Amino acid sequence: MADLSERKCQGVDCANNAGTLQCPTCLKLGLKDSYFCSQDCFKKSWNEHKALHKKAQGPGLYNPFPTYSFTGSVRPVYPLSPHRTLPKSIRRPDWAETGIPKGERRLSRTKIDILDAAGQEAMRKVCRFAREVLDITAAAIKPGITTDNLDEVCHNASVERNCYPSPLNYNHFPKSLCTSPNEVVCHGIPDQRILLDGDILNLDISLYHGGYHADVNETYYVGDRAKADPDSVRVVETTRECLDKAIELVKPGMPIREFGKVIEEHAKSRNCKIMTNWGGHGINTEFHPPPWIPHYSKNKAVGVCKPGMAFTIEPILTVGKPREVYWPDDWTNVTIDGKRTAQFEHTLLVTETGVEVLTARNENSPGGPIPIPTTTEKTETANGASGV
Ligand code: MF3
Ligand code: CO
Repeated sequence: MADLSERKCQGVDCANNAGTLQCPTCLKLGLKDSYFCSQDCFKKSWNEHKALHKKAQGPGLYNPFPTYSFTGSVRPVYPLSPHRTLPKSIRRPDWAETGIPKGERRLSRTKIDILDAAGQEAMRKVCRFAREVLDITAAAIKPGITTDNLDEVCHNASVERNCYPSPLNYNHFPKSLCTSPNEVVCHGIPDQRILLDGDILNLDISLYHGGYHADVNETYYVGDRAKADPDSVRVVETTRECLDKAIELVKPGMPIREFGKVIEEHAKSRNCKIMTNWGGHGINTEFHPPPWIPHYSKNKAVGVCKPGMAFTIEPILTVGKPREVYWPDDWTNVTIDGKRTAQFEHTLLVTETGVEVLTARNENSPGGPIPIPTTTEKTETANGASGV
């Protein structure tokens, strides 16, 4: 680390030594050494300086929906990377070539599968792989990389394990996982957007192996700044706890409608709202078979837990209004007020006595709970200029 006195101000035509004042946008982009001698010098240099931000984000990139009225600050950054391929030897679900999940669409809405011993063992295996792939992908999260970089990590880790990444071409979804930052509720498409220090980001990983699917997701803090933002931590940690509380109920005889009650009670206690249009689902040889699992109370879900059933619970909470809209890509679901959301998901197997969390975290899994801060911590950054 260089001696403080040697650090030069980045201001245009400024020969001063720099102080501790840094450009906030550079900080968020993970650009270091962007120091200025004074607020004034920073402001004067803004027009030239902001070109560096654009450069850091790469040439040839564009917003594919320039006239769309975005609800928050996240934008799609195209072009998407080319379609990723897999070796022929990897077993594919029925939508891999056509984009259409034929088997899933043919299912009855009420018949819940019970897995035999071999099916349960196959679920354990694919879910163990899904945890590994989630952890490897999450370990790559840092300010300055793109969600497409994470897609590549996820895709390669899946292929290395002889797994097909279930999202790829599911109803024509273009990528191998869903990446949902900030106000994106779910089903964000990995693209060229750079992760910023202060973002929160959900990674939703689904794999297909040995004829069975696994599904797991977690929300992570990007850099340290989000960890100091009370709203972000409140929604992330509350959602994590809601999932844990619902899982505690799972055992033979428990009606599926009960999960939503504990989720809603806990969400309310933290002043968070539930995105009720999304729910958990059965999971086995199909990706989204019955039952449908609501995350809110007073729901009318039918069905009772029985040994051998596999399903997901995956609540999504927001700090704002629980209303949503789609981007014109027809996938990216965002809050209508641009407020942040978080989601957590596990694949579960009902046992004779309770539940097995098939996608459980390991001791070294990245992420994990942090305390909810009571005050906002402030670090010194420049102000008076805005926008990238
Ligand atoms: N993993 C999601 C779920 O929890 C489904 C993603 S489908 C995709 O059910 F096409 F959006 F990837
Ligand atoms: Co799911």
